[in-house]
Amino acid sequence: MYEVLLLLHNLLRWFVLLFGLWALLRPEPRPGAFFAHALTLQVVLGLLLAFVSPLFQGALAALGEVMRAGGEPRYFVAEHWVGGLLALGLAHAGLARARKGQGARLLFALSLLVLLLSIPWFRPLLRL
Ligand code: HEM
Repeated sequence: MYEVLLLLHNLLRWFVLLFGLWALLRPEPRPGAFFAHALTLQVVLGLLLAFVSPLFQGALAALGEVMRAGGEPRYFVAEHWVGGLLALGLAHAGLARARKGQGARLLFALSLLVLLLSIPWFRPLLRL
């Protein structure tokens, strides 16, 4: 289960980024919906992953020490998901504006920027 979720979470990141780019170039309801909904799915996968990940669960079990020591465990337990949730909020705010016919490009751009900063690029680019 863990390996499958990790593979899907890894792969879906590329679709999220592609849809995000599409929404940025055409800040309209359809591209915005693809972006916001793919990102929602990615966040759900991330939350499931957090429950089954030995790394995440191990870091939670020794939180004080992990927060002091830093490194990969602290990154995943304290930083990675914060960016994911912030990007999700920005993408849905963008979608809501696009549906009202208001400008949404800035919100999609901010969401993409937060995503680019929150993705663990030190991990494999693909796990196929
Ligand atoms: C609430 C939101 C999120 C949570 C809770 C979450 C959780 C996690 C966890 C626990 C891991 C590491 C698992 C492990 O190594 O055992 C991980 C890795 C990763 N996450 Fe997330 N994530 C979230 C959002 C996102 C988003 C929005 C993206 C990108 C669009 C993303 C992209 C990745 C990537 C690329 C990896 C590395 C996968 C690999 O090593 O193959 N995550 N995430």
